Amino acid sequence: MATGRGLGVGLIGTGYMGKCHALAWNAVAPTFGDVARPRLVHLAESSADLAERKAGELGFEKASGDWRRLVEDPEVDIVSVTTPNAFHAEMAIAALDAGKHVWCEKPMATALADAEAMLGAAEKSGRVTALGYNYIQNPATRHMKALIEAGAIGTVNHVRFEMDEDFMADGTAPFGWKSQKESGYGALDDFGVHPLSLLHVLVGPVTEVIADCAMPYPTRPAAGGRAVETHDIANILIHAGAVSGSILLNRSAWGRKGRIAVQVFGSEGTLAYDQERMNEIQIYEARGPLAGQGFRTILTGTVHPPYDKFIPAPGHGLGFNDLKVIEAREILKKIAGEPAHLIDFSAGIAIERAVHAMARSFAERAWVRV
Ligand SMILES: NC(=O)c1ccc[n+]([C@@H]2O[C@H](COP(=O)([O-])OP(=O)(O)OC[C@H]3O[C@@H](n4cnc5c(N)ncnc54)[C@H](O)[C@@H]3O)[C@@H](O)[C@H]2O)c1
Repeated sequence: MATGRGLGVGLIGTGYMGKCHALAWNAVAPTFGDVARPRLVHLAESSADLAERKAGELGFEKASGDWRRLVEDPEVDIVSVTTPNAFHAEMAIAALDAGKHVWCEKPMATALADAEAMLGAAEKSGRVTALGYNYIQNPATRHMKALIEAGAIGTVNHVRFEMDEDFMADGTAPFGWKSQKESGYGALDDFGVHPLSLLHVLVGPVTEVIADCAMPYPTRPAAGGRAVETHDIANILIHAGAVSGSILLNRSAWGRKGRIAVQVFGSEGTLAYDQERMNEIQIYEARGPLAGQGFRTILTGTVHPPYDKFIPAPGHGLGFNDLKVIEAREILKKIAGEPAHLIDFSAGIAIERAVHAMARSFAERAWVRV
C-alpha cells in the first residue's frame, strides 16, 4: 500500500456523474493498493445547502455554493468537473489557470471554440487533463484492442456502433437541460462522443462524416409547453482512414437501457461487444473448417487487466462505476509521469472536431471532412 500525502480532490457537481467520480476517488486506493488515498477536500454545488448535504454524504471536508472558491482552494490538486456540458469550459479553464489537474466529463464543451480554449489552457498550464470516456477503460474493450492489434480478425475494414437508451423516450416527460440548445446538439454529442472514443482507441480518428438528426418530440411539457432544441436521434456514416462505418444514436429508444453495441469487422473475423453485457466479447474467427466456425464468447476475468484488482474470480463481472475507478487510476498514473490509457484534452479535441463536423454535415446535408 502506497503511503504519503494523497492528491487533494475538488468535485464540482454531485448528480449522476458527480457521485460516480466521488465513489471512484473513494475506491481507487483500496482497489489498486498501490497509490496514496486521495483526500476528498472540497465539493461545490449550485447552492451552499446542497453542497453541505452532499459533502456529508460523499465524504468531502469542505463545501461551497460557489465553485470558484473550490478552484482557488490551495489544498485542491485536481478538479472533477461533472456539471452540465455548458459549464465545462469555464470551470475547466479556471481550474487549469489555477494550476489544478482536471478530470472533465464528456463532451469537452458545447462549442468547438470553447473546447479549443480548454486545450489551450491545458497546454499553457502543463497540468494533466482527462475526459470521462469510461468505456475505453473496460477490460473487455481493452481486450478488444489487444485482439485487433494481435491480428485476431485480420485487417479491420468496417465498424458499426449503435448507442441507445430510453431516458428521453417518454414524450410526456418534462423539459430538462438535455433538451436545451445550451447543452449541445443532443444525441450527436451527448451520445456520439462515446462511440467516437471507442473508435479512436480501437481503430483511429474519424476523417469524414455525413450525419442526419431527428427530433421525435418537438415539444415537451413545461409551463405552457416548451419547444425542444436538441435532436434525440442521430445517424452518421463515417470514414476513419480506410475503414468505413456507421454510428447510430437514439436517446429515445424504448427498452434500450445502456446499449453501446460495437461491431468491428475485419478480413479474417469479427468482434462484437455490447455495454449492456459489459463483461463479454463475442469473437468470430474465419479460420479452420467452416463447419466448426461460429461466434464464441469471451467472459472477462483476472487475465484481462485490471479486472483482477476488483475481484479474484473470473466471470463475476465489473459494473459501470468500476470503469470510473479504473479511469481515476489512469489519471493518477499520468500525474505520476507514467504511461496511461486516457483520452486527454489534446486527444479529445479530435472527438470534438468530429462531432462538430457531424453537426455541420447535418446542417449542410453533405459529407464533411474532419
Ligand atoms: N461518462 C459518462 O458515461 C457520462 C454519463 C452521464 C453523464 N455524463 C456527463 O456528465 C455531466 C453531468 O451529467 P449528469 O448526468 O451527472 O447531470 P446531473 O444533472 O445529474 O448532475 C449535474 C450536477 O451539476 C450541478 N450543478 C449545476 N450547475 C452547477 C454550478 N454552477 N455549480 C456547481 N454545481 C452545479 C447540479 O446541481 C447537479 O448536481 C455531463 O457533461 C454529461 O454529459 C457522462
